[in-house]
Amino acid sequence: MRKLMTLEEFTIQELRAFPKATGQLSGLVRDIGLAAKRINVEVNKAGLMDAILGATGYINVQGEEVQKLDVFADNQLVSVLRNGLFCAGIASEENDDILVFDDEVSNNAKYVVLMDPLDGSSNIDVNMPVGTIFSVYRRVTPLGTPCTKEDFLQPGTRIVAAGYIIYGPSTIMVYATRRGVNAFTLDPSIGEFCLCYSNMKCPERGDIYSLNYGNYGGYNDQIKKYIDFCERKKQNGKCYTQRYVGSLVADIHRNLIKGGIFLYPGTAEKPKGKLRLLYECNPMAFIIEMAGGHATNGKQSILSIIPDTLHERSPLFIGSSGMMQELHQYIKGTA
Ligand code: AHG
Ligand code: MN
Ligand code: MN
Ligand code: MN
Repeated sequence: MRKLMTLEEFTIQELRAFPKATGQLSGLVRDIGLAAKRINVEVNKAGLMDAILGATGYINVQGEEVQKLDVFADNQLVSVLRNGLFCAGIASEENDDILVFDDEVSNNAKYVVLMDPLDGSSNIDVNMPVGTIFSVYRRVTPLGTPCTKEDFLQPGTRIVAAGYIIYGPSTIMVYATRRGVNAFTLDPSIGEFCLCYSNMKCPERGDIYSLNYGNYGGYNDQIKKYIDFCERKKQNGKCYTQRYVGSLVADIHRNLIKGGIFLYPGTAEKPKGKLRLLYECNPMAFIIEMAGGHATNGKQSILSIIPDTLHERSPLFIGSSGMMQELHQYIKGTA
């Protein structure tokens, strides 16, 4: 049987390609993998006696009801990264402000991590796929000092690495750097993430479109016309297929593999839409663009947006380059 390369072996192989590399990024991704394994154990217990299901009763900075698994996932990631050697601090969807790991070692770490510790929380209690999303940036403040908000309000073009873990029928980590996108399936028999997809490419076209139709009434006319186009038979007599899980990680993972487009537009009531620029839009845009796809807010590339605040939201259009071109013809009114 072919021996599959583990995430650890893969990051070390990557290190060999860059002899000057310090190994900090490889170590940081391994730390995130450890936290993901611990989160995976809890996600897989839904319904069992000590499962952590249900809500905490708190409302987070997003105005959402915090699920127990949101808190568990956040804690797991914060503790491995705080105890690790490679992260100066964290910004998380679940925490109002940045977490500065102000100690001698952490202040000399050159990276910061931004994360959505548990994505798709509304799906936890109904046993649908959920995920963890992360991105890694190089600090812009001097090493040896505590990281500051400036280290976190960087545009997505400055992402060094980004990834997600999808807790689905299999638990898979998709990890992207500027060298490419690779995926690793957690092999429970050895407790390691093993390389399952190398150099992933998002198909230029697909026939899947993903959106929450419940918001259709609030979309502008250009978006409505695009969605009406998706519903109509194409020249080849085929229609597009509509798929929507309600977990960004699941919807993007399917479209990355099969080809497709995901839309979370703004509405009259919420012009910036729902998704968080730092914790969801940027990392997913980086991953999809490194795989040859495209991501915009309808006006500009997601990765070019200069963030103003930690929890700002952005409309998100993301997926296969050919389908994104089609969408933008409708947005510009040239379709
Ligand atoms: P989170 O659970 O981290 O708050 O994210 C949920 C997000 C995202 O996963 C998904 O694409 C979107 O919410 C679904 O929103 P709607 O339920 O409004 O469609
Ligand atoms: Mn949330
Ligand atoms: Mn999310
Ligand atoms: Mn979340």
